[in-house]
Amino acid sequence: MNPVELKKGIYWVGVVDWNLRDFHGYKTPNGTTYNAYLVVDEKVALIDTVKRPFRDDFVRSVSSLVPLDRIDYLVVNHVEMDHSGSFPDVARMLPNATVLATPEAKEELAKHFGDVVPIETVEDGQTVSLGSKTLVFVKTPMLHWPDSMMTYIPEDKVLFSSDGFGQHYASSRRFSDEIDEQTLRAAAGDYYANILWLYSPLIARLLSRVAEMGIAIDLIAPDHGFIWRGNTASALEWYGAWSSGTARDKIVIAYETMWNSTEALAKAAAAALADEGFEVRLMRLRDTENSYVLAELLEAKALLVGTPTLNNGMFPSVGGLLTYLKGLRPKKKRGAVFGSYGWGGGGCAAADELVEQAGIARAVPPFEVRWVPTDEELSACAAWARELAASLKE
Ligand code: FEO
Repeated sequence: MNPVELKKGIYWVGVVDWNLRDFHGYKTPNGTTYNAYLVVDEKVALIDTVKRPFRDDFVRSVSSLVPLDRIDYLVVNHVEMDHSGSFPDVARMLPNATVLATPEAKEELAKHFGDVVPIETVEDGQTVSLGSKTLVFVKTPMLHWPDSMMTYIPEDKVLFSSDGFGQHYASSRRFSDEIDEQTLRAAAGDYYANILWLYSPLIARLLSRVAEMGIAIDLIAPDHGFIWRGNTASALEWYGAWSSGTARDKIVIAYETMWNSTEALAKAAAAALADEGFEVRLMRLRDTENSYVLAELLEAKALLVGTPTLNNGMFPSVGGLLTYLKGLRPKKKRGAVFGSYGWGGGGCAAADELVEQAGIARAVPPFEVRWVPTDEELSACAAWARELAASLKE
């Protein structure tokens, strides 16, 4: 894709990765973009680079706007290799550029690539004048790595937000007001749940800081997906809701089944919860991805986990989901476990323990049946689900 001018002298010079389907284990059915930006003023700054396989497209794009020897600064907002993969090659192509990064980024760049070029470190709140525009650096450690920072141009009210406010979504459109809101919210939510959920307290603090500073933001320019234009308030509002754990009357049931006993329980629980007015999402783990479950869970009140017992433990795919969940530690969720066993139990107990370790508060004790559930047991399962529904309404 060709460069796009965001505001006078500020250009998107990123690349579109249409075919990415897996981002370090997180499924990305819509691909992604690696956004980078060029700010042309009396001095010229390049903000971030791109994943290495896209280096040549990126350099071509930047070169179509300015000769590489005109670039005065290369700003590294984040070291993860989807943004820094091209850094060593690009940095060497910029004979007159000073590389600017946080001290943590400087250390991480050296660990990733060795000593490529000298790096000047910047601190939180430090500024660099480009002439009529100023770069203000805002350190945002752990959003998404210890090195992370955002860069703000007050004169244009543009925030280059690095991983924050990103979406994995490949498109020929560059701006958030060029797609429908439902698609945008789903893409931003999916990204939040799978990349940023663990860091919700830091995001809440960042949002408070932005509010206290009273800074105006016309554009939020993340390193992935659409550039927020016209609906930056939605971005801030959604992040506020997600970081505080706001949820609606929705329940996700993630389960596995061997001979349909656990699936029968899942369906009985789903029907009862739907009767109680909840939106229910039933997800059989062999047919879905963990990252899709997390995305569905983001705005849900509760997660029900169903597992058969296999070899005295939970089903492996259930363990996989719960291990992933434990890493992201979703906030303010309730949960419960159900399942089936044959000659010996253990599946529900193992899953219950991991659910607790993931920080999910147990709403009701596990519900378990032996072999195939009878009609009475299915009714009991429905009653168990109604008990859970009642606890969520309290
Ligand atoms: Fe888009 Fe943390 O990298």
